[in-house]
Amino acid sequence: MVLMETKILQESQVQEAADVIKSGGLVVFPTETVYGIGADAYNEDAVQKIFTAKGRPSDNPLIVHIYSYDQLNEVADMSHVDQDLVQKLCDTFWPGPLTLILPRQDRVPLATTAGLETVAVRMPKSLYARELIRQSGVPVAAPSANISGKPSGTCFEHVVQDLSGKVDVIVESDLCDIGIESTVVDMSTGTPALLRPGVITAEDLQQVLSSLTIVDDTDPEAKRSPGMKYTHYTPDAEIILFEGRTRENIADWQKKYEEQGKKVVVLHAEKSEAFMKNLFKFFRDADDNNIDYILISGTDDEGYGRAIMNRIRKAASQVIL
Ligand code: TXA
Ligand code: MG
Repeated sequence: MVLMETKILQESQVQEAADVIKSGGLVVFPTETVYGIGADAYNEDAVQKIFTAKGRPSDNPLIVHIYSYDQLNEVADMSHVDQDLVQKLCDTFWPGPLTLILPRQDRVPLATTAGLETVAVRMPKSLYARELIRQSGVPVAAPSANISGKPSGTCFEHVVQDLSGKVDVIVESDLCDIGIESTVVDMSTGTPALLRPGVITAEDLQQVLSSLTIVDDTDPEAKRSPGMKYTHYTPDAEIILFEGRTRENIADWQKKYEEQGKKVVVLHAEKSEAFMKNLFKFFRDADDNNIDYILISGTDDEGYGRAIMNRIRKAASQVIL
């Protein structure tokens, strides 16, 4: 692809970033989860440019980011969903890291939803993100800011590495607060389904939803979220995940690789906000430091563990049980 000039903007220059969205350009911007590559969700050509910049398969739909409930009704058709339940979820978790799959309104182009009759919608907690959407005057379609298949961009330096020359603007900000992508819940059918775990946990959702199907990536139902079938989050370093193993076993592997002259780092997964926040940055830093192997001891699927282990399992090239 032909490289373009990418302008770096500060958060204070939100009007300038919004003008770029309005005129059909691409803006990489911070949210509370990860950085996103934003474009006018109603502009097919602009949305198409997101897929090109990321190298994203065209059958993997984008999340539409909104700042108000008026915009929710503009993009989603609520006539055949359980409106009370959707409202309860929104009241509890919005603005925040929860994405809802709902029937699409016709004005959302199929380029944005990758041909699906549903649309993914999220109202971010990040004040910057909401102000950008408000000033753009349109809902903003945005996938995570990374080259397709790589760990999602959570810090400015890494989004610059991946996307400089491929987007019009990159907004400079701090390391994202949460560090992994939003929880995705399908509310478009009779039974709510958790399609992607996140910082809003299954346990949190069950406080609001009396029934929740948890869709595992290895489940045939996983095809409900097109993104589930692609490789994800993989740094250049090879990730080997030790599920339910002791640190001693990892030490043996570390020794074996180091004797071969390989650079190895060891990571012990923890079910904490701090671990979540730094996980993708850790993967990307490993690449910056030419690490060959990342050996990870896993944790269980309770609470934050489900989201953390979901990302690590997808990133791993080998799982040692
Ligand atoms: O936290 C986040 O959600 C970030 C920030 C930028 O908001 N965005 C993000 O977008 O992670 P992305 O494109 O990397 O992931 C969106 C996920 C994909 O797995 C996609 O397949 C799924 O949501 N998705 C989008 N629309 C869908 C739909 N209509 N039905 C089912 N899954 C959908
Ligand atoms: Mg992504």
